[in-house]
This record gives sequence, C-alpha cells and structure tokens, in this order.
Amino acid sequence: MYLTKEEEKTLEGEYGETLRKAMEILVALGEIYGADSLIPVRSAQIAGVSYKTIGDAGLEWISDLKGKARIPAILNPAGMDMMRWQEMGIEADFAKKQQDIIAAYESLGIRTKCTCTPYYLEGFDVGYGDHLAWSESSAVCYANSVIGARTNREGGPSALSAALVGKTANYGYHLEELREPVISVTVGFELSGADYGALGYVAGKVIGNRVPIFYLKGQPSEDEMKSLGAALAASGAVALYHVEGITPDAIRYKYERPDENLTIEKEQILEVYETGKSGGSSLDTDIITLGCPHCSPAELENIAGLLAGKQVSKEMWVCTSREVAGRYPDLVKDIEKSGAKVVCDTCMVVSPATNNYQCMMVNSGKALAYVPSMCGVASRYGSIEECIREAVHDN
Ligand code: F3S
Repeated sequence: MYLTKEEEKTLEGEYGETLRKAMEILVALGEIYGADSLIPVRSAQIAGVSYKTIGDAGLEWISDLKGKARIPAILNPAGMDMMRWQEMGIEADFAKKQQDIIAAYESLGIRTKCTCTPYYLEGFDVGYGDHLAWSESSAVCYANSVIGARTNREGGPSALSAALVGKTANYGYHLEELREPVISVTVGFELSGADYGALGYVAGKVIGNRVPIFYLKGQPSEDEMKSLGAALAASGAVALYHVEGITPDAIRYKYERPDENLTIEKEQILEVYETGKSGGSSLDTDIITLGCPHCSPAELENIAGLLAGKQVSKEMWVCTSREVAGRYPDLVKDIEKSGAKVVCDTCMVVSPATNNYQCMMVNSGKALAYVPSMCGVASRYGSIEECIREAVHDN
C-alpha cells in the first residue's frame, strides 16, 4: 500500500502516539483488504459510544488518546439521554461512565451530538460521491444507497482513526467496481411505511453482505428507504443497496439485472408483522418505541399527528437526535402531551433503560432484529399506526 512521506512519518510516530496508533489501524485495514492508498474523507461517524456496549475497556482506550479530529466527526447514540437520564431510570454509576466517554471524545475534537442519522444535522453535509468513514450500519447504508456517498462499514476504532488522520484506506465501497449489484430482489406488490423495514428484515437474511438491487412497485420515500437499509444492515450485513430507477447510483449507472434473483412474497412481509404474536413471544407488550433509526422531522410530525388528542397507557419512546428535537420544539411538546417521551442522544437498543421490560413493540426491522439479543427483551412488529394503537390501548 502506497503511503506519502507524511503518512509514513505519522506511522513512525513523528506526530505522537495517538496519530501513530490511528495510522497503524488504517494501514492494517488497508493491507488486509488490498487498498492501494489512503484517501481523504469528508466526515467520520463513530460508533462505540454507549457505555452499555463498550464498557470500561472502551472508555479506557478512548481516554488514553490525545489529539484533534482533522475532519467533521460525530458520535453514534450513547446509552442515555444526556439531559434526562435520571427520568429514564439510569443509575448514577452508568451515567458517570457515559459522561466520561462523551468527554473523552469531546477532548479529541469530536462533536458530541449522538445520533445514527447525522445526515439530518446542519453543518454536517454529505453529498453524492463524497468519501466518508462512517460506522453506524444504518447510517452507512443510507449514505451509500440513498445519498450515493462512499463509505465502508467502519468499526468504531477505525472511524475514530479516520477522524484523527482525515483519511481512510481506499478499498471496498470506495471503489466503483465493488458497488455494482450482484443480486436482484423483486417485489411484485405495493409496499408502504413499515413494510420496507419488514422487507429489509426478510431480504437481509438471504443477501448477507452482498450488494442488492431492488425492483419495486412504487416509489419509496427517503424515510422508507432509511427503514429498508437499517433492516438490511441488521438482519444481514448490507452496506449498500440500489433501487432500480430511484437511488442515485442506479440512475447513473443503469446497472444490468444480476443473474441471481430473490423474489419476496407478500406472505413473507405479513409474517414479520406476526413476529411476537404467533411466531415468537406471547408476552404482553409493555413498551413501544419508534425512531430506529432516529426520527426525521417528517416522522416526528407524523407521530405528533397520530398522537393528537390521545394518551398513552404504556411506556412509549420516540427516539431522535437532540438537534432535530431542538429544531421542532412544538412537535416534541405535542408528542409529549400524550405521555410519550421524546428521547434524544440514545435509543431503545443501546440504552440499558429498556432491559427491564418484557416485550417491545417496534416499527423498525433493525430494532426487531436487535432488541432480543441486545436488550434481552422480546420484540414484535407493527406499523406506526399499530404501535400507537398499542400504546393508547386501554385509554
Ligand atoms: Fe439508531 Fe439505535 Fe436503531 S443506533 S439505527 S436507533 S438501533
């Protein structure tokens, strides 16, 4: 792998131990995956923020680093709402460690907005063709597929290394030839809303880490494509998908249809909605969560409208970024009037606050896949309307 003189000096430790370690990680990955060189990246998004997932070892590792990010860099959700953690029932010990993690990232010049939807944030622009080093799997899928940016599915340490060096190794989805679809997915019926998360949940299991191209009836919205990508990334390991005639690379490159095809039947989508009813747990739902990935302004508006004049009788979370919530205080107020909580900086999966429930209802294929393993809580699936109906059930 070719390194410039400056990169070599960094690797030799001339600019300090942190940059040396960061460069070592980038070069090691580049060599494993056959990169020819390092390339500049426009931004980094760093996973490995919740104390629930990284623990003391992660905190220690980040705290030992010194230096400053050279490019805009942002964090994935933390383990708690950084302002309302007490209300969430987070213990003081956990909160202290979480605050220490955020402070350690902040001292490295990382923006401490914690979200899996950084593409909604002002001043964190990302456009077609931009090279990035993002690590949250749903954000990676959205950036590659819906925006047409170029990023691999980085691990937390490699995204942080890219932030500090300002570069990443040139392999995988940074290369045009590896972005071509190798499997087609045909859906011969109309989908809407949570159907896209269900589609991702079903198709991801078959696709694994390959690049699919979807042949759909109708035109999914950006929020629907966000749900599709998040579920594909969780039930499989998809980092890039195309939708014929809709996503930017599919329009630009007019890909030929791959030989291998997966046809999804309506019954397979309906089965996902049955998960947790007939197929999985028979436990009663005691928490409902929306906003995986974090809600867009349009999703907040929709939820506020659906909750208008209603009171929830069960714990209900609506997860979004603090910045989006801050831009729409009236929507937050409207949602919270119903008794639901608008939870920022964190989510239903990476916070320990959901671990004590028995069954969570979600409208996200990603949450459906992760909640049982990450929270030890049964999960069931519904459309946004069904989730809200469940939340206000006894009122
Ligand atoms: Fe985001 Fe948490 Fe879902 S990080 S994608 S809301 S699991």
